[in-house]
Amino acid sequence: MSTDNLSTDNLVTLTSDPAEVHPLAPYKTLEPEELKNRIEKIRGQLGDKLLILGHHYQQDEVIAHSDLRGDSYQLSQMAADSASCETIVFCGVHFMAETADILANRPEKLRERDGRRVAVILPDMAAGCSMADMAAIAQVEAAWQDMSEVIDTKRVIPVTYINSAASLKAFCGKHGGIVCTSSNARAVIEWAFERGDRVFFFPDQHLGRNTALPMGIEESEMPVWDPYEMDLGGNTEEAIEASRVILWKGHCSVHQMFRAEHVEAFRKRDPEIKILVHPECPREVNDLADVSGSTGKIIRTVEASPPGTKWAIGTELHLVNRLKSEHPEQEIHFLSPVICMCATMYRIDLPHLCWSLENLIDGAVVNRIEVDEETSRWSLIALERMLSIR
Ligand code: 13P
Ligand code: SF4
Repeated sequence: MSTDNLSTDNLVTLTSDPAEVHPLAPYKTLEPEELKNRIEKIRGQLGDKLLILGHHYQQDEVIAHSDLRGDSYQLSQMAADSASCETIVFCGVHFMAETADILANRPEKLRERDGRRVAVILPDMAAGCSMADMAAIAQVEAAWQDMSEVIDTKRVIPVTYINSAASLKAFCGKHGGIVCTSSNARAVIEWAFERGDRVFFFPDQHLGRNTALPMGIEESEMPVWDPYEMDLGGNTEEAIEASRVILWKGHCSVHQMFRAEHVEAFRKRDPEIKILVHPECPREVNDLADVSGSTGKIIRTVEASPPGTKWAIGTELHLVNRLKSEHPEQEIHFLSPVICMCATMYRIDLPHLCWSLENLIDGAVVNRIEVDEETSRWSLIALERMLSIR
């Protein structure tokens, strides 16, 4: 993770003067009830000037204060459609806040607002994404250069999962590529094959593979590019020439913990149980599942099921626990016997939310996420291509 993502908590310990306490520290000692009241007071004062967006993986106590919640695609649309707000507080992770900044401040929106920018705040700068950190722009550019010695990269369409830094989205914008989310990956890959012969998919190998396999692309046509291997990402020239989708060697540290044996154990115990997973899970798990989809699809699937349906769900723990409490009429289990939670999503808590909002009401924008103009311009091209696919 880059130093940009250093936690405000860490600043408490990193400060050179041991007597100096970070302004967030007093918030850590407040009772949840007090924090809730103070957050709601500011929401009331700012009204529709403030938009709090929350990803489905957020803790219940945080999601309770969000105006809108969604999966990555829905949250991008919400930021793109935001009209009257002056500030977006993003209860999610860094790449989501970057995407919100790019979409909420795109040229047509700035014109509508006479040039006024919407400020995007990430309550804790340490809320990154370990998967997004697995692909740095320098590595992607080096890979592109290396593969161009074997294949014609004019016929390769780069596709970045939205879980990536804005610089990677900009790379896709510049090279005729596009962004995808877990809810539209198939449509995006189809779009790419209408424009090129191959797809270079980063950073999540599992989403890329799980999406391409049902499209008839064989595992043998999907070499995995390891950025730490010197020669062609650890592949032979023949493998790259025979490729249809080149997968980046990246993964989600949360979803990689779900295993085929977890599915088998549930099915052995109860043959009626249905398995519902996120496509960031490894292939062995995804192949065995009854349903695979984005967090939005996971929620819709449970909502649409009759009472008594039994599920074992393979995605982040907070979402599964929320589904369990919101759907007592169904039997919902967490797929893994061990805890799989997103530690970076969990960084957003009531003290950080309250601290960022109280600063805001005092006129100070803390933890602002602002993507530079050049990166925004190219990223926007790749994001708009995605949003135009229905
Ligand atoms: P979705 O909400 O788009 O399914 O993504 C899940 C995720 O891992 C977000 O980081
Ligand atoms: Fe990143 Fe995985 Fe956390 Fe999503 S769940 S934010 S992909 S680490």
